Amino acid sequence: MAARGAFSNRLGFILAAAGSAVGLGNIWKFPFEVGLGGGAAFVGMYLLFCFLLCFPVMVTEVAIGRKTQKNAIGAFNSLGFKKWNFIGKLGIFCGILILSFYNVIAGWAFGYFFEMAVGNFSISQNFGVYTSNVLKVGAYAVVFMLFTAFFVSKGVSGGIERLAKILMPSLIFMIFCLVGYALTLPNAFEGIKFYLVPDLSEITMSTVGGALRQAFFSLSLGMGALITYGSYLSKSDNIVSSAAFITLADVGIAFIAGLMIFPLVAFNNGGDMSLVQSSQAGPALIFVTLPGVFETLGAGLGAFVGAFFFLLLSFAALTSTVSLLEVPVSYVVDEWKLDRKVAVGAVALLIFIIGLPSMLANGASGFFSGSFTMPGGSTDFLSLAALSADTLLLFGGFFIVTFAAYVWKKENLHEELAEGFDGYHASFVKTFIDFAISYVCPVLLAILFVLVFLNNFFGINLL
Ligand code: PHE
Repeated sequence: MAARGAFSNRLGFILAAAGSAVGLGNIWKFPFEVGLGGGAAFVGMYLLFCFLLCFPVMVTEVAIGRKTQKNAIGAFNSLGFKKWNFIGKLGIFCGILILSFYNVIAGWAFGYFFEMAVGNFSISQNFGVYTSNVLKVGAYAVVFMLFTAFFVSKGVSGGIERLAKILMPSLIFMIFCLVGYALTLPNAFEGIKFYLVPDLSEITMSTVGGALRQAFFSLSLGMGALITYGSYLSKSDNIVSSAAFITLADVGIAFIAGLMIFPLVAFNNGGDMSLVQSSQAGPALIFVTLPGVFETLGAGLGAFVGAFFFLLLSFAALTSTVSLLEVPVSYVVDEWKLDRKVAVGAVALLIFIIGLPSMLANGASGFFSGSFTMPGGSTDFLSLAALSADTLLLFGGFFIVTFAAYVWKKENLHEELAEGFDGYHASFVKTFIDFAISYVCPVLLAILFVLVFLNNFFGINLL
């Protein structure tokens, strides 16, 4: 199996998988979802979903990958359940869809790094002009896709793992510096209050759905990314503790990103948090709010801190785009026996093209920027793609656990989890995983999927 590549050790796997998990989802999406979802009540639900529903799905994905040492589709074939490989097909489709728009946003963030570095703070008032400048954001997106393709073409240990080993520690260091700074600003406390003191009246179906989708998206679950990464993991490594670590790292960094963003928002608005639910919120939140904050620091320091922040965001995005690209690439390399470099080039190009409508969806084209009718009003192509992909992740997650518990059978799953984990069979965590994948996850995910789907796409509220 050496030809497929492998992580050099458990730490390499953990960092790469945590790198996949920690991305725009934590630093860009989580804060604005919390904002739209009304603050702390959303945070509470998100945490609950991550540990109760998502952790068992993660363990299952990694186990399927490691057991078979195959890509997201090949894994189901190799277990002898070819009919179930639709889960993998759906996953690869979903990965392609996510990367197609994710790369556009990563490109915006990367572009902001340069804008901040030259002190162009007024860009926040012209965010719409920036995103509709196709040549500019298109060029950043090309560069970002090239970086992604470069690291994936270098292979699992030489590219993906090495990248994560450098970027993840840098990211953690950078984020702590920025939190420390944000907490010292005037009105920081108003931001923290919004973030951490729950208002239960804010819980609605769309908040519940949003928190669940966010949990899946943020943990890179439901589309085979962790089947793929798991397939490069050694038999002697402990899957359960690795997955626990990855979940904690992801949740921890999202949580800390909130501690950084909300004080900055509060500072920028004199303690008024209503902005996070206004027209400047949503995907634009950090792009519109933060430059103004950096500007108040004065030209030199502001440019430095601003560039530092958007570099951090680009780093986080890169370890995620790499994992998104690896999912289809791994399939093409395993099943079509294509050379990795050729596979990377072809798949990356295809995904870039699929991403063009998303690139045009924030001003450049009137059609892609707002002609999609949804229950809440018309929306743009990028938001629609993101919502569809997120919802598909729930669907995938449901099928993955259901498959493992009832088709592959949980004894086989437990057998795989016991490899590299002495004492697994007698442990409490086994009982928890067993119960979760047999009942809690399938039942709750099925119900929530239906509720979320009806709510998002048809405006029907059953709760
Ligand atoms: N988890 C990534 C993020 O939070 C996004 C992602 C989703 C990556 C699905 C891989 C698979 O940014």
